[in-house]
Amino acid sequence: MERIICLVIGYIFGLFQTGYIVGKLHHIDIRQQGSGNAGSTNAVRVMGWKAGLCTFAGDVLKCVLAICLTRYIYRDTAYAPMLAMYAGVGATLGHNFPFYLKFKGGKGIAVLAGLVVATHPVLVPIPLACFLIASILTRYVSLGSLLAATTFFMEIILYGEMGGLGMSLNYRIETYVLACVIMVLAWFRHKENIKRLIAGTENRFGSKK
Ligand code: G3P
Repeated sequence: MERIICLVIGYIFGLFQTGYIVGKLHHIDIRQQGSGNAGSTNAVRVMGWKAGLCTFAGDVLKCVLAICLTRYIYRDTAYAPMLAMYAGVGATLGHNFPFYLKFKGGKGIAVLAGLVVATHPVLVPIPLACFLIASILTRYVSLGSLLAATTFFMEIILYGEMGGLGMSLNYRIETYVLACVIMVLAWFRHKENIKRLIAGTENRFGSKK
């Protein structure tokens, strides 16, 4: 039951579509512009850096808040860190698939950033470095995003097996599964980007579309 409650709390927070709202403030539907994604990369692309940074900050923050709330509610629970991951998965689902926007939201990378910061800050540097290096060198933000989601999953397993998660085996495995779900969701929402990357037609950051 706690798991479902955390998922639902996360989903509700995830529904706050920063990119969509910032777009509306600019009198546009961000989902009809640029790549059509309601995320910070597309917000920079179609509305500029200020709008992009606001979108990124809002999307990170909603996940952090969802996790803080569940951490507070379940503060006396031994496996609270694992429950926090459920809140993060819920926030990703709410962000990626908001029911009131016909399930068309963002791709969950800023939410993932919030999740890593709020649940395992010690794991931030490697996914962040992969994201920055790949995005800057290739100007494919999607490639950086996919690498960040994948390295986070791999890190969680390594960190858990090294004792960093401090949980019993069952909870550790559940945490690995949740990190895997987050990675799969990222890959799923980037499927059009992946097709374009393979075809060599992906939008490069800084190009108009
Ligand atoms: O986080 C989204 C990014 O990976 C790709 O965004 O707009 O280029 O599809 P976009």
